[in-house]
Amino acid sequence: MKRNAAYPGTFDPITNGHHDIVRRAATIFDRVVVAIAANPNKTPLFSLTERIDLARRVLSDLPNVEVTGYSGLTVDFARSNGLDVVLRGLRAVSDFEFEFQLANMSRHLSRDIETVFLTPQEQFTFISSTLVREVALLGGDVSQFVHPLVAAELKKKRTP
Ligand SMILES: Nc1ncnc2c1ncn2[C@@H]1O[C@H](COP(=O)(O)OP(=O)(O)OP(=O)(O)O)[C@@H](O)[C@H]1O
Ligand SMILES: [Mg+2]
Repeated sequence: MKRNAAYPGTFDPITNGHHDIVRRAATIFDRVVVAIAANPNKTPLFSLTERIDLARRVLSDLPNVEVTGYSGLTVDFARSNGLDVVLRGLRAVSDFEFEFQLANMSRHLSRDIETVFLTPQEQFTFISSTLVREVALLGGDVSQFVHPLVAAELKKKRTP
């Protein structure tokens, strides 16, 4: 039986932590779809098109990984794309409570979709898109935390 996973998130922008999770997932699942939520209520720094474009370029070396945008419920997106697993990353205990709520809500909304968690390598456990954005916009060096393409785009956002 084929196993296909959706990896949903805002990816504003994609970080080395996300990349680590996707790379691991690509060895476990037949197909991994990185599902980028439009999430207008989060007022992202990068537009949906920019977030998709960056993720596609950063993940282009992984042949069984696709990147697509979506809006609406993640379980609806997963079901309509033939994805039976929703993949999430757990960095620390602080992620657990929200992720646990989300996984239970997903199960109530759709009994046939399972949530699966992966943890990143230790050096990525403190990376979040929020922190990367904040550091980059204040002029800090984020080259250890994101792909060079992403670092370059963050630099452009800083200089209007
Ligand atoms: N460094 C990381 N290691 C492991 N999982 C991660 C990492 N960063 C994000 N994730 C996971 O990836 C999924 C999508 O995350 P999301 O797009 O919200 O990124 P984020 O870094 O948490 O961004 P934000 O700070 O904007 O919330 C979530 O399950 C999140 O826990
Ligand atoms: Mg988050």
